[in-house]
Order: sequence, then C-alpha cells, then structure tokens
Amino acid sequence: MTHENTERPHANERLTLRPTSRGKIVGTSAKIRGVIETIDRIAKSNCNVLITGESGTGKESAVAAIHDASKRSDKTLVTVNCGALPEALMESELFGHARGAFTGAHVTRLGRVAQAEGGTLFLDEIGELPMPLQAKLLRLLQQREYTPVGDNRTIKCDIRIIAATNRKLADEVARGTFREDLYYRLNVIELNLPALRERPEDIELLVEHFYRDSVAMSGRDDIDGFDAEAIDAMLAHDWPGNIRELENVIQRAVLLAPGPVIRREDIPANLQGARAAGSSAMPSQLPDEGINLREVIEEFESSLVRQALERTKWNKNQAAKLLGMNRTTLVEMVKRKRIG
Ligand SMILES: Nc1ncnc2c1ncn2[C@@H]1O[C@H](COP(=O)(O)OP(=O)(O)OP(=O)(O)O)[C@@H](O)[C@H]1O
Ligand SMILES: [Mg+2]
Repeated sequence: MTHENTERPHANERLTLRPTSRGKIVGTSAKIRGVIETIDRIAKSNCNVLITGESGTGKESAVAAIHDASKRSDKTLVTVNCGALPEALMESELFGHARGAFTGAHVTRLGRVAQAEGGTLFLDEIGELPMPLQAKLLRLLQQREYTPVGDNRTIKCDIRIIAATNRKLADEVARGTFREDLYYRLNVIELNLPALRERPEDIELLVEHFYRDSVAMSGRDDIDGFDAEAIDAMLAHDWPGNIRELENVIQRAVLLAPGPVIRREDIPANLQGARAAGSSAMPSQLPDEGINLREVIEEFESSLVRQALERTKWNKNQAAKLLGMNRTTLVEMVKRKRIG
C-alpha cells in the first residue's frame, strides 16, 4: 500500500459494506458477505440470536449491526458481560433489586433488562453465566418475565435477546456446565463469525481501513504507508486475535514507526517471521546466551508507553487508546515505572 493509494478518494469505499453505530463492517470475502446477508435477514425478526466466533472476530460489532437494522433501533442496545461479576451481583445487575434486598441496597435499582425495554439486550460471554442464573435467564427467554432481587413481583418485558460466546457451548452442555434447554432457546439462529485466517482476502482491506483511522487519530502528518515487506508479513500472519489484533498492530505501527514508511521492523516481532532477527531490546529469537525475560519485557513496555505519551503530547486518553489499554491501567503503569 502506498501513500498515493491511501490518498485516492475513498479508494475502498465501494468495498466497505456496512456502517454500524460501532464502526464499519469491512470486508469483501464471500464469508463476510454471508454474515451481512444473515444480519439483514434476521434483523427485522425478534428471534434470539447466538453469535459465535473466536476472540476479536467482530461479535460485538455484529450485534450493533443487528440492532441498528432492527425495528428496535430507536431504543437502547444494552450490553451485559456475563462473566464480569460474581453471581449475586450479576443477578441484581440483570434484574435489578428492591430497596433493602441486601446490605448496601439503599435504593431500588433498575436492572439491565429494564434498561433494554423495547430495545435489545446483548448478553456477552454467555458461556460464563453461573448455573443458577442460567435458570433465571431461561425464564426470561421463555416467558419474557423476571423478578428483581428481594422483590416478589413478576415483571413482563419486551426485549430482543442476542447472546455471544467464543466458547463451544455444545461442549459446555456435554460437560454439564451449560443448561441444554437454555442452549436451544438461545440458539434459534446461530451467526458464526469467521476467523480472519479463513478470509485472508479481507486482510489488506482491513489494513487500509485501520491505517486511515489510525493516521487521523495519531496526528502524524509525515506517515506514508507500508513497505512491501510489512504488508507481506501481515498477509502471512494467521491473526489468532483476529480483527482486534490487526487493529492494534496498525494503530501501534502508525503511532510508533520512527520513519514515515512503516517497515517490517515496526510491526510486532511475532508477525515478522523467522527472517527477522529482531532488535536487542525485543529479540524475536532467543539469543544463545539467554535473556532476562522480565527485564526485556519491562523495558519494551516502558519504551512503548513513553513513545505513546510523547507522541500524543501526554494526552493519556489518546495514548491509552493507542496502546490498547484503559486509561487507569496506563496511569498506574506510568506511576509504577516512574515515566515522566
Ligand atoms: N468486519 C469488520 N470490519 C472492520 N472492523 C471490524 C469488523 N468487525 C469488527 N471490527 C472491529 O474489530 C474490533 C473487534 O471487534 P469486536 O469487539 O466486535 O470483536 P469481538 O468478537 O466482540 O471480540 P471479543 O471476543 O474479544 O469480545 C473492534 O474494534 C471492531 O470495531
Ligand atoms: Mg466482544
């Protein structure tokens, strides 16, 4: 990809398939077109959808696309990460609680289900939902009703439910850690998002897409595309972290490349293949004499954090985003490493 290419007006616009409230779904492969067709077909219905796919394949983006294309798009899309809280807290997170339901419940609190009324409830990482809550979720799915914690009312609701997982739920069912009846209720329609390595023809398009975004965000006006070796390394990589990994690689390369052209050395060592020997700070191959792994990682981390901060003029939000971490983590890291 060259500078001229990226400046050509809307070079890949015709291949950019679907804008959603969460960004664009970019791709041209038969697989991604199939995904978008399915999204269009199911969006107007009210059926439950189970979205499956490896980490970073775009499950959350697919949910946004379904919600945006549905009749519920003017109402809220509420996301709950089912693995984020211990069981007791998760129940009140989902269903709300009455005042005095437990120590600390000073006021009545609406749950996420109530917040999604009329709209879509997205249950992310559904495979992590503790068993007792799976029973309560089944009731919600079957009867569209629930009872807040510490309450005795039955509340009816009108929501569409979409769940996502990167686990094989059928295996969890076989192991007895996921309820079979819940699995069949959720799995009315399964939308499987292909791994990036199954649709390599989309890689270059995605690189271009994230490159444009990253350049705009970095504030760098000197940056001038990739050299052929860098592109080759990205095409040859199998992207276990899928689109998220690719997005992070591009963001970091745009932010941290010392020169205007992003070279093979400017992308992470694991993408560089056996040909690259790597720098002394971050060897891609273990030297004969060995290394102090902790020190090397610490040093590498500090260097990237420092560069990110310098390049964003110490805008911690922007720097954190470019490093793929949240602001609090960055602030703690800066303090711990005494970067300044
Ligand atoms: N088809 C696509 N085109 C362009 N960008 C995409 C596409 N799908 C996802 N993305 C972007 O890739 C990143 C990862 O997507 P998303 O968060 O939806 O993945 P996920 O499957 O939910 O990941 P995880 O399993 O880690 O939660 C996001 O920044 C998203 O905007
Ligand atoms: Mg996700």
